[in-house]
Amino acid sequence: MAEYSLGHSPTEQQRLQRQAALLRNITQTIWRRAGLEPGMRVLDVGCGVGDTSFLAADMVGADGIVIGQDRSPEALATARQRAADLGLNQVEFVEGELGSWPGSDERFDAIVGRYVLIHQPDIEEALLKLRPMLRPDGGIIAFHELELEARTMSDPASELVLQVRGWLRQAFKFGGMQAHGVMDLSRCFYEAGFGWPQVELYPLVGCGPDSFAPAYLVEILRTVAPTLEKHGVIKVDELGLDTLEARLRESCANGAPGLVQINGGAWARI
Ligand SMILES: C[S@@+](CC[C@H](N)C(=O)[O-])C[C@H]1O[C@@H](n2cnc3c(N)ncnc32)[C@H](O)[C@@H]1O
Repeated sequence: MAEYSLGHSPTEQQRLQRQAALLRNITQTIWRRAGLEPGMRVLDVGCGVGDTSFLAADMVGADGIVIGQDRSPEALATARQRAADLGLNQVEFVEGELGSWPGSDERFDAIVGRYVLIHQPDIEEALLKLRPMLRPDGGIIAFHELELEARTMSDPASELVLQVRGWLRQAFKFGGMQAHGVMDLSRCFYEAGFGWPQVELYPLVGCGPDSFAPAYLVEILRTVAPTLEKHGVIKVDELGLDTLEARLRESCANGAPGLVQINGGAWARI
């Protein structure tokens, strides 16, 4: 099993929920354009603490079914508690590896996911495993992923933003994350037998004094800092993590974009 660079600590689980709020509209657009609609039976692979499954549940409505699957029992415990708190009856969470059948052998109308293919050592192989679970007559596959190699834009350039982004990239690579998560998707979909997918890019831009970007970058850095220290890239004590958000905010004080994160969607219908 490949190393998962972000882990499942309580802090990381909370970070995922804040990140979900930032990404919700992009994910919803991708899944809607892919054809997700009321009444469908949907598998959400790598569901984490449940945010993507809750969004899918919104989209399929009370007559649909969503099964969220993840390998992490800690994340699933949180997801189940949140579903109970929200009174969502059409969502179920199942522990398992991507590609293992979750529950019954009944096929799905749609298989979806967010920020999960980029964590697979071989995206094509992951898609191949998912294909038999989809309805052969019109089943939909739709993923929201991240392009790690896209440059952070900042004008004038913020050295601090660039440095932090550089560290994050390194940490993700140590964790086996795919650098070209989005740009490689069309080839992987095609090779896995889905035909050529529709691929679209969606930039997430943080700029100005209230930008989400500084806090977002620091939260991820906190999560991966031990990995970076283990590989000799940084010394956590010397990072000044407690003041980093303020320093990043100041470095973008002219309102220039402090973060342009390139998100992408890829989808296809059998
Ligand atoms: C970055 S999180 C995204 C969670 C959720 N999709 C979201 O956007 O909020 C990735 C999740 O995928 C899970 N994951 C990664 N690879 C997996 C695999 N091969 N099988 C099952 N779960 C996996 C991790 O445990 C983690 O919870």
